[in-house]
Amino acid sequence: MKNYKKILDKITPYKPGKPIEEVKRELSLERVIKLASNENAIPPSPAVLEAIERTARDVSRYPDGGCFYLRQALSEKLSLSADNIIFGNGSDEIIVLALRAFLDADSEVILANPTFLVYKIASQVEGACIKEIPMNNFRYDLESMLKAVTKKTKVVFIANPDNPTGTYVTDEELKSFIERVGEHVLVVIDEAYYEFAKGGDYPETLELLKREDRNILIIRTFSKAYGLAGLRIGYGLASENIIGVLNKVREPFNVNSIAQAAAIAALKDEKYLLDSVSLVLEEKKKFYNVFKSLGVEYFETKANFVLVNTKRDSEKIFECLLKEGIIVREMSAWGLKGFIRVSIGLSQENEMFFKAFAEAIK
Ligand SMILES: Cc1ncc(COP(=O)(O)O)c(C=O)c1O
Repeated sequence: MKNYKKILDKITPYKPGKPIEEVKRELSLERVIKLASNENAIPPSPAVLEAIERTARDVSRYPDGGCFYLRQALSEKLSLSADNIIFGNGSDEIIVLALRAFLDADSEVILANPTFLVYKIASQVEGACIKEIPMNNFRYDLESMLKAVTKKTKVVFIANPDNPTGTYVTDEELKSFIERVGEHVLVVIDEAYYEFAKGGDYPETLELLKREDRNILIIRTFSKAYGLAGLRIGYGLASENIIGVLNKVREPFNVNSIAQAAAIAALKDEKYLLDSVSLVLEEKKKFYNVFKSLGVEYFETKANFVLVNTKRDSEKIFECLLKEGIIVREMSAWGLKGFIRVSIGLSQENEMFFKAFAEAIK
């Protein structure tokens, strides 16, 4: 069977890690901790679990394709019209929908390098030409990205903060970029880690949606600070016009009913959110201290993970950590040889990582 899209021959599929249970079995370990996918280490709150159990009784029915109650709840929380919101099966789906809706075969997409791998894979599937602009000292080089824009450029991705670097674009930098990029370009501002990053000179982007002359799509998720990664739910915020276009390429029942109910409960649960954010803010200082004391290069992060340049064989370090029951992300797939990315876990999990990491780099 060869008559599929030619471009797919160039695409390497995303490689999932082994399930925790399998790692335990293979390595005869009692405890395995996963610090590899930037999930929330705190288990869901009782209110979220109750919403999940309640909704499970109705799964013989299709979900509400319009996410009516969730849309209402989010619109109130953000003081934004319900028509400015689209929900997706994870924020990943919003990325895919945007590319499906905006790209033609001769379109160009501008990305930073390194950045979230889904942007490239999903753009390749649409047959677009991808321009990857190297970062400058692991920060977005927006001036070079701006210079790369042509008439054919349809979409620019700004992950803010970026994954895997954890670095961010400031309010001033972002506004200046948006001011100068052409009206024909959709600027996707991916704020998957917004709740951890907000404050200071990190941009508050909702006000940008009022700009009629600029095409802006903000992406956020319930997977990180809200702790619902396993349920797959995220959202996009944009002008009514852009949301209308995205809805044309959306499947009718793209967000399952359990995810919708859990997200409503999660939005109300301010304590869980506060606890999640303060855990990350507190624990990341410990990561910095440990890396400093070990003389290992790391990058200050606005997200719930830290990128580390071990300047050693990171595949070996990954294996050493795995033997101790700790799964981190080895970064060769991003072209970052010698680097690992570690998610910030619970205090006790982080302590286990610090000990095992110090041994692994000896
Ligand atoms: C920058 C960025 N965007 C989007 C996502 C996708 O999140 P989800 O599809 O779980 O909402 C991630 C997940 O790691 C991410 O790091």
